[in-house]
Amino acid sequence: MTDEATVVDPPTEPETSVRDLRFDRSARWWVRGNYGPVAEEITVDDVTAVAPIEGQLPDGLQGSYVRNGFNPPGRVPRHWFFGAGMVHGIDIAEGRVSYRNRYVRTPFVEHDMDVFDAVGDLRASPANTSVVRHGGRLLALEEAHLPWELDDGLGTVGAFDFDGLLDTPMTAHPKVCPRTGELLFFGYQFLRQPWLTYHRADASGRLVQSEVIELPRPVMMHDFTITEHHAVFLDLPIVFGGTGFGFDPDAGARLGVLARNGRGDEIRWFEVEPCSVFHVVNSFETGDEQIVVDVCRIPALMREGMGDMGAQGCLWRWTIDLAAGTVHEQQLDDRPVDFPRIDDRLVGLEARYAYLADLGRADRLGFGSQVHRYDLADGSVVSHDLGGEGVHTFEPVFAPAGPDAAEDDGWVVVLAHDDATDVTSLHVLDAADIGGEAVAVVPLPQRVPFGAHGNWFPADV
Ligand SMILES: [Fe+2]
Repeated sequence: MTDEATVVDPPTEPETSVRDLRFDRSARWWVRGNYGPVAEEITVDDVTAVAPIEGQLPDGLQGSYVRNGFNPPGRVPRHWFFGAGMVHGIDIAEGRVSYRNRYVRTPFVEHDMDVFDAVGDLRASPANTSVVRHGGRLLALEEAHLPWELDDGLGTVGAFDFDGLLDTPMTAHPKVCPRTGELLFFGYQFLRQPWLTYHRADASGRLVQSEVIELPRPVMMHDFTITEHHAVFLDLPIVFGGTGFGFDPDAGARLGVLARNGRGDEIRWFEVEPCSVFHVVNSFETGDEQIVVDVCRIPALMREGMGDMGAQGCLWRWTIDLAAGTVHEQQLDDRPVDFPRIDDRLVGLEARYAYLADLGRADRLGFGSQVHRYDLADGSVVSHDLGGEGVHTFEPVFAPAGPDAAEDDGWVVVLAHDDATDVTSLHVLDAADIGGEAVAVVPLPQRVPFGAHGNWFPADV
């Protein structure tokens, strides 16, 4: 074990202020320990040839888990978020597990680019944040550029612009509507207008609507959310200015509600207290002109600029009263959490359960050892510890037991990295008994760097 393998949290020495971290390559925690890149692209058809599975994989768990993350191939990027995308695919079929990892072969990899080499070119994406499957395509996503299409073997097809119709970036957090099959998304820009555009693709993947939404200023907008009839946008004050992005509470904060097939100028805005949100848990309509939006709310991220990641959020609920024009803001819990997921079949509908990653401490970036299941109906929380001190969770995802299975009938699939062994394992948890022992733990043949997001793609869909 090298010294580097033990470094999993950013430095917190008093002499290293958050301002120093902004673009300070000496503080490049994002290329150290399990934040750092892996060098090899490998294919392992049967991971049990490398290490045995603990427990037993459930018969009903058949499909692919594909994750994306930051994996700079050469020079050190100026921010964790800027490394080139590498996708990791874990296929489970008939109890056999295979693994492969591949760079998304964008110009970032081919030319070892930094993000400032790519400004203004929509195709020049690091494609490093998430993946989505829609309209027969698998897309690698990042929020400032076009998506990049992958084939089923995770080979790179190329930048995808919806047959020439998409002329803005695409968020890494599009929503697939489980009722209509539509793909709803947005693109934000900060160097040229429009600052925000809403897009809707039909179930076949054809872009059918694009609506410019006026914003008073360019802001970083990482996620949004949908309900049965609405899209909800987060105009929160991580504002782009002369020195890049930074938190500016004086800019105010608003939630924008737009009918999913409405015109951009029909959006209604609702004031909230200034804050930061990377990720929405879910949202739904209550039937009495209210929209409930659950979020991981951070009091103030990037207060000292884009390198300032030293704050974490916890679970909050915004209840938008469409008739009164107000938002009721309520903290639901005080555990430091993020990377929220629900059963994807309930996106935009009322989901009872949410699965969130434990971030360990509230005052700095890092990953704790637990996965939490929140019962949003009664407020209770059940936690699963993946291995205690020195073991770090990733984003959990839910894999249903079948297409018609009940909401908690299935498994929570989550990676965990163990500092002591430098091994990343796939943990399969019973969603209905998440506090119980893992159903199966699958050591992977290569560590997976802490990254952003992934999705479970069931074999039966
Ligand atoms: Fe994200």
